[in-house]
Amino acid sequence: MTDKLRVLVIGGGAREHAICWAIARSPRCGKLWCAPGNWGIGQVAENLPVAANDIDGLLATARKLRIDLTIVGPEGPLSLGVVDRFREAGLAIVGPTASATRIESSKWWAKEIMRETGVPTGRAARFMDADAAIEYLSRVSFPTVIKADGLAAGKGVVIARTPDEAMATIEDFMERETLGVPVRKLLIEEFLTGREVSLLALVDGETVLPLLPACDHKRVGDGDTGPNTGGMGAYAPTERLSAAAIRDLTRRVFVPVMRRMARKDAAFSGILYAGLILTEHGPKVIEFNARFGDPETQVVLPLLRSDLLELFVALNERRLREQTLEWEEGAAAGVVLASGGYPGPYETGLPIDGLDAVGDDALVFHAGTRAGADGGPVTAGGRVLTVVGRGPSLAAARERAYAAADRITFPGLHLRRDIGQAEAAGAGA
Ligand code: AMP
Ligand code: GLY
Repeated sequence: MTDKLRVLVIGGGAREHAICWAIARSPRCGKLWCAPGNWGIGQVAENLPVAANDIDGLLATARKLRIDLTIVGPEGPLSLGVVDRFREAGLAIVGPTASATRIESSKWWAKEIMRETGVPTGRAARFMDADAAIEYLSRVSFPTVIKADGLAAGKGVVIARTPDEAMATIEDFMERETLGVPVRKLLIEEFLTGREVSLLALVDGETVLPLLPACDHKRVGDGDTGPNTGGMGAYAPTERLSAAAIRDLTRRVFVPVMRRMARKDAAFSGILYAGLILTEHGPKVIEFNARFGDPETQVVLPLLRSDLLELFVALNERRLREQTLEWEEGAAAGVVLASGGYPGPYETGLPIDGLDAVGDDALVFHAGTRAGADGGPVTAGGRVLTVVGRGPSLAAARERAYAAADRITFPGLHLRRDIGQAEAAGAGA
């Protein structure tokens, strides 16, 4: 493929906006569409009114528009088999098959792979029966971690501080079906302490190219307080993971997992994301995701100097071995501007002001935005925008991100003030 490419991105969050932004800069990009996209994505791509989980609709659209290459953002369409369906139809698409997506959607299966490959991870026991799981609680120390098997939109992991809490969680998951689906399998996992780091890699089935390590901030409030969210901000790179540690994780985690999956008829190609806890005994994997992270992607891609579209083409043609990743100097920090009430209920349709005042000082990636009555952007989700600053240091990047964020307003807006602060101040590095 040497011609200009007709490219489709599936998804509609700030992660997909960052992916679209990077692809649109590639000289290889002929035309770019996004399904369903959002108001901000509409500035760099043409939005299509097709939902990310509507696999038939996506396939029909890709055929009609003669798309050369499709990139999948979220896990939903991956686990629904969008990659399998596109490949069957002879269409090129970046992402893992439904079978390989189990590395994210089945914590049980992921644990099995980690065990078989000796990947450093928390000790865990697996249960298919609530009584046996509850009985086992007498043998664990607290806190302990209860993980439901299956995609649970971030609600399937509970850190139980006491045996009572653990018992209630097991009953909620397996008997009361509080996740909305019956949980048939769960893990009880050792609680690990240490900083969390996300390490993502491009994987083509033969070669692994790790991206810059990033940290996200999942709690809603400053100082990691309040309920969990989809992510309130992120920064990259983190110095908590050295270049040597990344090489070691490539060798001991990504490569063996990639090879093992291939032997299980679940060959992985796409973006593999390892969630790590840096314990006193070294990094341990707490989860894998089969896709780009959100909000990590919004801070990692702006530092990538290499052509992302060329990398996707190479990934799909199993030519990552020929590629090297070039990075910009310095750091990026991204702060999420969220709707009032998020992660609880919130209002939408509120006008967003001040986007023009940001200029070139920062990147603004849209998550929950759509066109209002006058065509201008209004809020349409819990996380509305990720505002990303870049600079020679993390401190400078934070300053730019917050200066830009402070120019943007919508009723009820809230944000965390401490994204990257601890590492920028040198604390706990
Ligand atoms: P996961 O869905 O597996 O990413 O889990 C959600 C969050 O739970 C993680 O981001 C961690 O903060 C926490 N977590 C998961 N597993 C463990 C563990 N074994 N020890 C401590 N915290 C954990
Ligand atoms: N940043 C967490 C995730 O994308 O799952």
